[in-house]
Amino acid sequence: MNPTLQLLLTRRSVKAIDMMEPGPNEQELDTIVRCGIRVPDHGKLGPWRILRFRGDQRRAFGEVLVAAWKAAHPDDPEARAELERVRLERAPVVLAVISRITPGHKIPEWEQQLSAGAVCQNLLLASHAMGFHAQWLTEWFSYDRTVAKALRLGQHERIAGWIHIGSASSVPSERPRPDVSDVVQDWHP
Ligand SMILES: Cc1cc2nc3c(=O)[nH]c(=O)nc-3n(C[C@H](O)[C@H](O)[C@H](O)COP(=O)(O)O)c2cc1C
Repeated sequence: MNPTLQLLLTRRSVKAIDMMEPGPNEQELDTIVRCGIRVPDHGKLGPWRILRFRGDQRRAFGEVLVAAWKAAHPDDPEARAELERVRLERAPVVLAVISRITPGHKIPEWEQQLSAGAVCQNLLLASHAMGFHAQWLTEWFSYDRTVAKALRLGQHERIAGWIHIGSASSVPSERPRPDVSDVVQDWHP
């Protein structure tokens, strides 16, 4: 089968917890990101940007997560908050895709947001094509104001996804998929 179709038909997410080194090196990551941002973008607005987390940056961000968790859940046991410290370290590389919309533009905000989703998907596919594994997560911290502040997100920015990229310690079995006939209908006037 055509290798691109094969890739699309077999792509599976590997859970961040099942990831390990190695992740993509500088050059590989550059290629993954170039694929990532080559997405449909109505109006050429570039309604997205990417924050990169590797090495020590992941633990430093873990400290932000611990503080944000504690602030939001003051009665939770300390051990629960501690889980957040290593949250990003499960994968060698994590890319935060930020949707950055231009409000009031003739291109609807919905379309601008969809373009950021396409970036996330392209990053998954490019990682997969390069022999790595990836997962698109949002988790609680995509929606937390303290975390948004620490990331210095702008007023019209929000997280579209945390793309975790690495190698797999175990590859998941296939996940049931809907039949084409369940999701496609012919339109009739
Ligand atoms: C926008 C978005 C956010 C997601 N966030 C999470 C998440 O926070 N936690 C999670 O377990 N899965 C999340 N997922 C689902 C996984 O990324 C993955 O798609 C799912 O486990 C199915 O695996 P598959 O990609 O092989 O079909 C999210 C998916 C999308 C599209």
